[in-house]
Amino acid sequence: MEFFIDTASIEEIRAAQSWGILDGVTTNPTHVAKEGREHKDLIQEICSICPGPVSVEPTVADAQGMIREGEEFATWAPNVVVKVPITPEGVRALRALRAKGIRCNVTLVFSLAQALIAAKAGGTYVSPFVGRLDDAGADGMELVRDICDAYRHYGFETKVLAASLRHPVHVIQSALVGCHVATMPFRVMEQLFNHPMTDIGLEKFLADARRLKSELEIRRAARG
Ligand code: E4P
Repeated sequence: MEFFIDTASIEEIRAAQSWGILDGVTTNPTHVAKEGREHKDLIQEICSICPGPVSVEPTVADAQGMIREGEEFATWAPNVVVKVPITPEGVRALRALRAKGIRCNVTLVFSLAQALIAAKAGGTYVSPFVGRLDDAGADGMELVRDICDAYRHYGFETKVLAASLRHPVHVIQSALVGCHVATMPFRVMEQLFNHPMTDIGLEKFLADARRLKSELEIRRAARG
């Protein structure tokens, strides 16, 4: 399963990239607004740090506007993927962008019906929003499982990108249902490292290494 980071923070993207486990980035207008920078400069810097796919979301909702912005985004860097919402306008934009060889990530997906449209229309990625479904009292991961199952039946090439992930269990569940990609906040990626037994084990090994070093020093000193 590929790991994408869901942020527009250069600091977070650099840190994740330094671990060697970063396969791509997803941004959205909320992330971009937090950075307070020109959209193009920010995306170009992100694309230069992470060579994998970087999803960029248009700032308008009509097909013509999304096509215009999407075509422009695609000139910013070769690894740009354009996000389109799963609306009739979004799918029109997807068809036009795809015809020009521009990859699209179909976003704001909350049902299997929407995910089927995304695949039939030729989305490169489909993004079910797990955490937001959980927030609404539904089971977000069940949707991801259903999309993976249905796509397998028909051999759709659209990659399932679990989005709106809130904690490490969401990432683990995504892997278990055979999701292609999980996009997560930096905090969740950091949490994936954590296990209390790792901390306890490391502390014990380091303490033993320190103890041996000091014993050897004492012995050397005693020998003169
Ligand atoms: C995905 O592309 C979205 O940017 C993101 O996962 C939304 O997550 P949120 O529900 O935590 O805002």
